[in-house]
Amino acid sequence: MTVPRFIDAKKRGQKLSVLTAYDFLWAALLDAAGVDAILVGDSLGMVVQGKATTLPVTLDEMIYHAEMVARAVHRALVIVDLPFLTFHVSPQQAVENAGTILKKTGAGAVKLEGGVNQAATIGALSAADIPVMAHVGLKPQSVLKLGGYKIQRDAERLLADARAAEEAGAFGIVLECIPRGIAEQITAAVRIPTIGIGAGPHCDGQVLVTQDMLGLTGPAAPKFVRQFADLGQQAGTAVHEYIAAVRSGQYPDEAHSHV
Ligand code: KIV
Repeated sequence: MTVPRFIDAKKRGQKLSVLTAYDFLWAALLDAAGVDAILVGDSLGMVVQGKATTLPVTLDEMIYHAEMVARAVHRALVIVDLPFLTFHVSPQQAVENAGTILKKTGAGAVKLEGGVNQAATIGALSAADIPVMAHVGLKPQSVLKLGGYKIQRDAERLLADARAAEEAGAFGIVLECIPRGIAEQITAAVRIPTIGIGAGPHCDGQVLVTQDMLGLTGPAAPKFVRQFADLGQQAGTAVHEYIAAVRSGQYPDEAHSHV
């Protein structure tokens, strides 16, 4: 998957599937399954590091994870989040940090949270030939200002954000936690693909945190997450069985021992 093909998918009416990965194992599995793009999200701060927000995630941590992911992937487009405070200071800061990510990881694109407020930065990245995806609606890096992870309902502002991102040169836009009707309106108003998360069925594609949709992050997943598997429960059962087998001496048996 290349950036031009990603954009063309919208013209062809082909819905795009995107999932997150943070390491080699999961990236290889998602790529082999045929997902269109893999996002190395700064959600790794919560999913991998167990932190309360994405704000502490650093550029070096993103590079560490993105390099493992990009090494595993042969087909999908790898998109890497620019973490908090790595692009807010100036467009130049963003170009330097995004360029460093692409150079050190082999990923194909970056994503940043913002629309109107980051138009100059999206423009600078685009002018430096760094493919950039925008992220509007609920922006997790703005959680302190927003006062929580809340559905965003200001249709006029959301549309302006999406249009500004497109005009500045973004190749796609994540729409997070917005009413489905507004997502439909935005999707019709822009030529680049919209990728929804908690934004209803009318987007050009969907993205989920892999661990959420596989049932690995517990019952507290947001309303929009459908659990396509319950791997958390299966893994728990397997570990219980392992503990019991070790304690009872049933494992290792003859079949799993060297002579
Ligand atoms: O960080 C992330 O994983 C994301 C997606 C959930 C869109 O930004």
